[in-house]
Amino acid sequence: MSDYIMPRENFDELYFSKTDEKQILAYELRKIFNDRVYGQVLDVGPGPGEITQLINSHAIHLTLVEPETDYHDGLKDHFPKAKIIPRRYEAHDLDNCYDLIFISHALYFISKDRWLPTCKKSFDALNKGGQLIIVLNDHEKTELGKLMKRYSCLEEHCRWNYIPLDEFEEQLRRFGSVTSTTYSYTVVLNDRNEFTDAVLRVVLDLDSEELIEEYKPDVEEVAEDFKREDGRYAISAEARIIVVSAYPPPILKAIGQLAT
Ligand SMILES: C[S@@+](CC[C@H](N)C(=O)[O-])C[C@H]1O[C@@H](n2cnc3c(N)ncnc32)[C@H](O)[C@@H]1O
Repeated sequence: MSDYIMPRENFDELYFSKTDEKQILAYELRKIFNDRVYGQVLDVGPGPGEITQLINSHAIHLTLVEPETDYHDGLKDHFPKAKIIPRRYEAHDLDNCYDLIFISHALYFISKDRWLPTCKKSFDALNKGGQLIIVLNDHEKTELGKLMKRYSCLEEHCRWNYIPLDEFEEQLRRFGSVTSTTYSYTVVLNDRNEFTDAVLRVVLDLDSEELIEEYKPDVEEVAEDFKREDGRYAISAEARIIVVSAYPPPILKAIGQLAT
C-alpha cells in the first residue's frame, strides 16, 4: 500500500461531519491531560483542526505538520500563533524538544512498515517526561471492522495502512511505558445514499467509479442491517488512545517497587 493523503472533500463530508468521534475523543483526552500544560507540542495531521482546539488549550507553543495545503488557511485562522509545516511527517526531521507529540488518525496515511520508525523518531524527540499520544481506529470487533472484512477482496484498492492495535501496542512497549484507553463512537448517515457513499469512498477508500458502481448494489443491501428506527444509518466504531511515556528513572522505579 502506498503513502497518500485522503482527499479532503471525501473525508470531511462523508465521515468527519457525520460522527460524534471528535467530542468523545476530546472528552477522553481531557481526562488524560488533566490540568497539564505542555511546553512544546506537535500535532501531526491536524486536518481541519477540530481536536487541535483542545491540544492548543494545553500547549504553550504549538507546531502543526499538515501536508494537505487545503487545510492551511483554516488552521492559520484558528491557530494564528502555531507554526505550520507543510510536509509529510515521516519526511520531516524533528527537533528534539517536544513535551507532547500527538498523532491522531494520521498513521493510516503512512506505510505500515514506517509506523514504528516514525513513532521511534517521535519518541526520541521528546523531552524528559514527555508523551507520545497516538489515536487510531480499532477494527477488530466493530461494525466498521466487519464492513472492511466483508469487502476484504477490495483490499488491494484501499490505501489505508493498518496494523492490528494489540500488535502495534506491543511494538510500542519497546520504547517506553504504554497505557491505552478505548472509546466507542458512531458514524450516522442520513440516508441510504450517504451510507453507500461513506462505505465505498471512505471506509473502503475506492476511487474508481467503475468499482464503486460494481459494489454499490451489495452495499445498498448491507445498509439495511445498519438502519435505525429513525430511518438513519449508523455504523459503530471503536478507537484507541495510546500513550507512550518515557520509563521513570531507575531510582524512582525502585522506590515505587518498595512502596508496593
Ligand atoms: C483523518 S485526518 C485526522 C485529523 C485530526 N488529527 C483528527 O484526529 O481529527 C488525517 C490527517 O492527516 C493528514 N496526513 C495525511 N498524510 C500525512 C502524513 N504523511 N504526515 C502528516 N499528516 C498526514 C491528512 O492531510 C489529514 O489532515
